[in-house]
Amino acid sequence: MSEHRIAWLPGDGVGNDVMDCARLVLDALNFEAKYVKGDIGWEFWKHEGNALPDRTLDMLKTTECALFGAITSKPRDEAAEELDPEIRDKGYVYFSPIVRLRQEKSLHTNMRPCKAYPGNPLNYKEGIDLVIFRENTEGLYVGVEFHPMPDEVIETLAKYQPKAKRFLDIPRNDVAMSSRIMTRAGCTNIVEKAFEFARKYGRKSVTVVDKPNVLRETGGMMIRSAREVAKNYPEINMWETNIDAQAMWLLKNPFDYDILVAENMFGDILSDLAAQLVGGLGFAASGNIGDNYAVFEPTHGSAPKYAGQYKVNPIAMLLSTRLMLDWLGEYELATKLEASIAKTIAEGKSRTYDMGGSNTSLEVAEEIARNL
Ligand code: IPM
Ligand code: MG
Repeated sequence: MSEHRIAWLPGDGVGNDVMDCARLVLDALNFEAKYVKGDIGWEFWKHEGNALPDRTLDMLKTTECALFGAITSKPRDEAAEELDPEIRDKGYVYFSPIVRLRQEKSLHTNMRPCKAYPGNPLNYKEGIDLVIFRENTEGLYVGVEFHPMPDEVIETLAKYQPKAKRFLDIPRNDVAMSSRIMTRAGCTNIVEKAFEFARKYGRKSVTVVDKPNVLRETGGMMIRSAREVAKNYPEINMWETNIDAQAMWLLKNPFDYDILVAENMFGDILSDLAAQLVGGLGFAASGNIGDNYAVFEPTHGSAPKYAGQYKVNPIAMLLSTRLMLDWLGEYELATKLEASIAKTIAEGKSRTYDMGGSNTSLEVAEEIARNL
């Protein structure tokens, strides 16, 4: 096994706690790597007005992939209030560094497995095993937003789209706009990734989730692209559903679904819902995967109130670590890690508070390391 070079991005809040757990387990696996720590997160926003400094982006170029903990994200005004006084009024605007990272590195595919490991007391139902493919660089999270609304923008919109005319007479400061921009290439790619995965792992169906009856152009592009892709996978069924109904059906009939694929925001929402079916965000892993780079992170947030307490469930982080090992081609280590996580959950000897236990994050990680 040659030595890997991994970017180590703890972020803030509980990011550090769960990354310590990842390190403990990676060392126990004898995974040979050099870890290069990168600056990212709330501290850098407060002091530099940039939560993802350029030096970090430069550093990433020297690594194969990154492991990422968690990051605090706040709306624009709350974020601006926390800037150091000397850099306020410099025009810094907060934009989530993880969303930016996905876009800057073209990490188009966000893969989020949701599996009910047997014996997890938090499982909604045993046997659930879904994988969500979330488009990661386009859609409603693309960041093309306006407030106050510039005259040229609203006037141009009204010129081409009569439905926009009713906003012309509203004071510009009282209108805000976020754009949902989707490309055929982006839609085709995410659906292809879902079908490829289904083929590789013998999954039976791919469900494409959007809302084309209302979002006729963007949703329509997603569905039309998906139908084209599906032609190349005749052995796999494709279902088309609307996001609102899908949320209900996922609770009602979770066993009817296998692989789900959606645009950025719908995938974001759906993946939290699916995570709850298998124990909550403590079990939700994700891989942000591009053609040449990837960032692996737990889906959960930074839970600042628990920072440094080693209280939160490290399993989401460790399942993300497993996805990283898989992506790096370290299949043996990946399989070993997943088996050990499954065993630790089933035995229930070491559990964090969310699972009804009183163990620390590190104790759970130590138990997983012992079970390897
Ligand atoms: C996620 C998170 C992020 C997102 C936030 C923290 C910006 O919710 O990874 O699902 O919306 O993508
Ligand atoms: Mg989310």
